[in-house]
Amino acid sequence: MTPGSMILGTGHYVPEKVLTNAYFEKIVDTTDQWIVERTGIHERRIKAPGQNTSDLCVPAAREAIEDAGLTPTDLDLIIVGTVTGDMKFPATSIFIQSKLGAHQAAAMDISAACSGFVYGLALADSLVRSGGYKHVLVIGTETLSLMTNWKDRNTCVLFGDGAGAAVVSPSDGERGILSTYIGSDGRLAELLCCPGGGTAAPPSRETLENGSFYLKMAGREVFLHAVKAMSDSALNALQQAGTTSSDIDLLIPHQANIRIMDATAKRLGIPREKVYINIDRYGNTSSASIPIALNEARRQGVLQPGMTCLMVVFGGGFTWAAAVVKF
Ligand SMILES: CC(C)(COP(=O)(O)OP(=O)(O)OC[C@H]1O[C@@H](n2cnc3c(N)ncnc32)[C@H](O)[C@@H]1OP(=O)(O)O)[C@@H](O)C(=O)NCCC(=O)NCCS
Repeated sequence: MTPGSMILGTGHYVPEKVLTNAYFEKIVDTTDQWIVERTGIHERRIKAPGQNTSDLCVPAAREAIEDAGLTPTDLDLIIVGTVTGDMKFPATSIFIQSKLGAHQAAAMDISAACSGFVYGLALADSLVRSGGYKHVLVIGTETLSLMTNWKDRNTCVLFGDGAGAAVVSPSDGERGILSTYIGSDGRLAELLCCPGGGTAAPPSRETLENGSFYLKMAGREVFLHAVKAMSDSALNALQQAGTTSSDIDLLIPHQANIRIMDATAKRLGIPREKVYINIDRYGNTSSASIPIALNEARRQGVLQPGMTCLMVVFGGGFTWAAAVVKF
């Protein structure tokens, strides 16, 4: 398939503060051994007080724009996948536009939980392919530390904060986004959600006290759906790209749980050495997880020019998405 768009630059940023598993041993009934064996996580990054989600995005965006050989005023559009933005409205992309000085760009957010970045990539690919947009900045970012109940051992050990970015531009004919695939199933929304703050449970003393503002998750159900949805999405994207998993040089799965990643790779027949893993250092950073991994893989030389990469993700909604990209 001839690509219409390509990823021209990437970047990422994680906050400086590191929380190791030892910290959680002190605040909830857990152990380093349990967390490592059940999730693969050793530590995660947590934003500083006063640091906004948009503040995490700006260094990630600057790195991606510079990597693409562009300046912020070259951008036509900024798409941000997040469910933990600076404000209820306006969109977090608006604050990023302002902080970058990207005054020519339109700006909007996508709410697709962990799948937000790959959803954004799919949209950017279509818009660039249409000829109406030239340079689209796609960001995945989350500060789930603010939505986490730090007394709930089932969830508090899992998440971290961060941001990752990519500039999507017209393909040079060789490199490019070969396919994207997105999907969702709203019947399963309550298995992973944050019920408070909207019309369903508006801000009140009662919703504050009953924990409505915390992330709720049915871990085991999420786990089982994630493995199936991620492998099915990957197969869909591979088929659309006219390729198979044996042609994939690097799999970048959503970094939610090492066992989910291993099970997905196994179903796809992709060996461990072709799977990019950084969950040990960052935990689950939701929509930031794929672009952080993508940028690290490029900077470390794990993902090199000429290689084909498969990205696949699953998140609240449920939502899922995959993309096949030649670098
Ligand atoms: C959350 C998750 C790690 C739990 O692992 P699991 O193997 O499924 O564990 P279970 O749910 O079967 O729970 C087993 C036990 O561990 C306990 N447990 C949960 N968190 C614990 C922790 N941090 N420390 C120690 N024990 C813990 C549970 O309370 C349960 O105890 P019980 O049997 O006495 O009730 C796993 O289900 C998971 O990763 N799910 C997907 C999460 C995810 O990816 N979410 C985001 C999607 S984008």
